[in-house]
Amino acid sequence: PSPGWTIRADVVIIGSGVAGLTAALRLRGRVDKILVVTKDVLNAGSTQWAQGGIAAALGPEDTPEEHEADTLVAGAGACDEEAVRVLVTEGPDAVRELIALGTNFDHDDDGALSLTREGGHHRDRIAHAGGDATGAEIQRALIAAIEAAPDIEVIQHALAVDLLLGTDGGVSGVSLHVIGEGVRDGVGAVHCRAVVLASGGLGQVFSQTTNPVVSTGDGMAIALRAGATLRDLEFVQFHPTVMYLGPDSRGQQPLISEAVRGEGAFLVDDEGNRLMQGVHELADLAPRDVVAKAIMKRMLETGRPHMWLDARHLGAEFWERRFPTILATARSHGVDPVTQLIPVAPACHYASGGVRTDLEGRTDLPGLYATGEVACSGVHGANRLASNSLLEGLVFSRRIAAVLPDELRPWTEVAPDQRTEGLVSGAARRDLQETMTSRAGVLRSAEGLAEATALLDKLSGNAAEQVDQASWETTNLITISAALADAAALREETRGSHWRDDFPERDDAHWAGHFDVVMSDGAT
Ligand code: SIN
Repeated sequence: PSPGWTIRADVVIIGSGVAGLTAALRLRGRVDKILVVTKDVLNAGSTQWAQGGIAAALGPEDTPEEHEADTLVAGAGACDEEAVRVLVTEGPDAVRELIALGTNFDHDDDGALSLTREGGHHRDRIAHAGGDATGAEIQRALIAAIEAAPDIEVIQHALAVDLLLGTDGGVSGVSLHVIGEGVRDGVGAVHCRAVVLASGGLGQVFSQTTNPVVSTGDGMAIALRAGATLRDLEFVQFHPTVMYLGPDSRGQQPLISEAVRGEGAFLVDDEGNRLMQGVHELADLAPRDVVAKAIMKRMLETGRPHMWLDARHLGAEFWERRFPTILATARSHGVDPVTQLIPVAPACHYASGGVRTDLEGRTDLPGLYATGEVACSGVHGANRLASNSLLEGLVFSRRIAAVLPDELRPWTEVAPDQRTEGLVSGAARRDLQETMTSRAGVLRSAEGLAEATALLDKLSGNAAEQVDQASWETTNLITISAALADAAALREETRGSHWRDDFPERDDAHWAGHFDVVMSDGAT
């Protein structure tokens, strides 16, 4: 559809989690007009849901080098070491900046920042807030800062439909579908000089995920369609301890933070046998992929749909103080973690891959930057280390804001959005999710992935009868699912969160490199 309205902004930021809002606040005063667009309300994305916390070498004994070593081990040989060094070195300052902005992290009785541990960390280095509501507190502080900055314009309920290319081949605009924001209603266009993608992940590709309903891979899909390169799409992390709500439960599922294991909880099977002892030196705090695989293996061996997390010994007082959100959520689903085991199973949690960037968040399209979960700077490799994601958003948004004002392109003409066909019906979403969960989820094989590709192809023929948000999102989900299945089929080894039944070993001799995905060629 042709745009019903057009506006201008120097920089458009797509997304309003930790990455998007940090970019906006950091760019403030350095470029003339900043516009933040977000698909739902400001706090509807994944940041709000982050529990465990934010990792940085902030403790007296800790060092960025140790944080780097843990990140590289978790990443299973697929991290970009330079990107990891940037993350861990700039991380402590980025967290201090968040504190200066008004984020209230938890403190110990002696007044020191309270730091906990999660999977894959050899030290206590996770700062947290409200016990287990870290993301919500960070989001609150960032929104307060944005609201105090009236020169940053925000449009909520605005889905980015496509990037608009300028005559120089760079990105010079965004087409939006806005629902009910006054005169800016329906499809419109923003003409701009740069776009910062900060639109989060793709959890809704799968039937069960910790991600909110808005995580439909939109940013990755629009970047791919515009000609940007995606990388590492096969590395989708499944969080080991997601509360199991029964065979029919779909969509966002309750996360039981790794910090609960950090405070002493452990995994058991139906007979009460400890799952992680003897599997890894860090036992229940092994990197996330190791724990998820151990749970899945026992589920497959026993035919059970879940395993159990035992955290009863933490006691009522500790549960109430340290994990109030998880406690209330578990109780609302009929399980009291103070007296009962919590049923848990792995579910999709985080896209380690995304739009390929350099260390300053630049993609390979002039004028297009990416930060946070939508981006792939190489910091996560094949498996993100726990609590490195909020940190990634902070650090790389700061880096983008440091370079972008000096490299703003001149205004260039944009072509109007031409895409009027090829939209897939929102009704195809459930079948798509089931296809990806059963054939491209935790455990993959050549046969399953080929079936997934064929089924996705069939589903993409489900033409949308109306042009609405559901059909744009489902189209994006199909685009990203197909690319993910291609990349997963190409990687004939098991590495990090990519687990192949037919190639169970890591194979550094053949598969140490990356798969770049571009629109015309599929995975390459
Ligand atoms: C958790 O709290 O277990 C999630 C932390 C993360 O995904 O980094």
